[in-house]
Amino acid sequence: MSHLDDLQVRADSRIMTTYPPGKAAFVRGQGTVLFDGDGNAWLDFLCGLAVTSLGHAHPAVTEAVARQAGTLVHTSNLYLTEPAIELGERLARICGWEEANVFFAQCGATANEAAIKLARKHGKRQHDDKVRVVALEGSFHGRTLATLEATGQPAKHVPFAPLAGFVDHVPYDDPAALLGAVTDDTCAVILEIVQGEGGVRPVPDEVLLAAREACDVHGALLIVDEVQTGIGRTGPWFAFQDAPIEPDVVTVAKALANGMPIGACIARGPATKGFEPGDHATTFGGNPVTCAAALAVLDTIERDGVLQTAATRSQRLVAGLQDLVATSELATGVRGKGLLLGLELGTPVAPEVEAACRDARLLVNAVGPDVIRLAPPLSVSRQEVDQALTTLGEALRTVAATSTSLEHA
Ligand SMILES: Cc1ncc(COP(=O)(O)O)c(C=O)c1O
Repeated sequence: MSHLDDLQVRADSRIMTTYPPGKAAFVRGQGTVLFDGDGNAWLDFLCGLAVTSLGHAHPAVTEAVARQAGTLVHTSNLYLTEPAIELGERLARICGWEEANVFFAQCGATANEAAIKLARKHGKRQHDDKVRVVALEGSFHGRTLATLEATGQPAKHVPFAPLAGFVDHVPYDDPAALLGAVTDDTCAVILEIVQGEGGVRPVPDEVLLAAREACDVHGALLIVDEVQTGIGRTGPWFAFQDAPIEPDVVTVAKALANGMPIGACIARGPATKGFEPGDHATTFGGNPVTCAAALAVLDTIERDGVLQTAATRSQRLVAGLQDLVATSELATGVRGKGLLLGLELGTPVAPEVEAACRDARLLVNAVGPDVIRLAPPLSVSRQEVDQALTTLGEALRTVAATSTSLEHA
């Protein structure tokens, strides 16, 4: 039995089936490469869902984790520790916000959960019914009950209905609908600047501007969910820094600690006064080891000019994907920003293209029936970009040939 099959059999009997069967099993990673149990090298252009942005086993992160794990792992938030406070200071600085504060969570959903509770608290100070949230169709904000409800994908709600009913969804590209949906009972608008799980779809500037305007008019908070876009994934530290708006609250998670579980809800201005002692808490928030890992990530990005490298690699990858659009009968367009890119397909064969890439040991994924997401490490090399493009081109040819032969069968 292969390593993958053996793990799957054991998983089937002991791990709850919230995921489909594993498509590969890995034992080690180095930079952009993952190794399976047979020692095969796989090119990782997915980064554990936009997480390992500095690549696997980055020495600075490994060193920081080992050092902090051997010094102090956990105290709870009843006591102060240096790494969390330093990370709060650093996050405020990279947001470019003088007056800002941070709540540390474990992941994207718990960072957004904190942001929604913060907004409700902020809203209820104005009047008791100011608890409603406006979100965009196609969005993804997490799987806790509140963030699931904010997620604009009705199919994900169905197994858990009825939900609390405090979120109104509007199309992701309709500024008038958004302006119409926000009322005096709205405490927050939550949105991603590029919808990641929803298919790598940039939200139009007009919608971002409408969200800002509606929040200002109605005294609501604008929450920008940067769980997937943050820490350089789309170019700058945060995607909002390239957008025509300034949020009141930003959430970040995935890439912040390069794979150690962390989430952060960062507030500025009046939103900094949202919570009081006892309003919100979590045992592991601000854990010294994860915060030390995050500080190592931020240090490395600054020291090594990672955002600049990523911008250059993004240009090369986009140019290569556009070549595929010009030459492949399946690829029809490229969307996204920085190193969060989507290759659009003219027919719903993204799962087949993902599988063909996997057969050639390239990890990318289908986010929807007709889009392939590419999210390589920000530190990806030129050669790795070229190698991935070659493999992706071959995968497109294989799938095109199979679809044609099926049509003619
Ligand atoms: C934009 C966005 N928000 C929230 C989440 C949820 O994050 P997590 O899975 O860490 O809870 C995700 C995960 O994909 C995401 O992409």
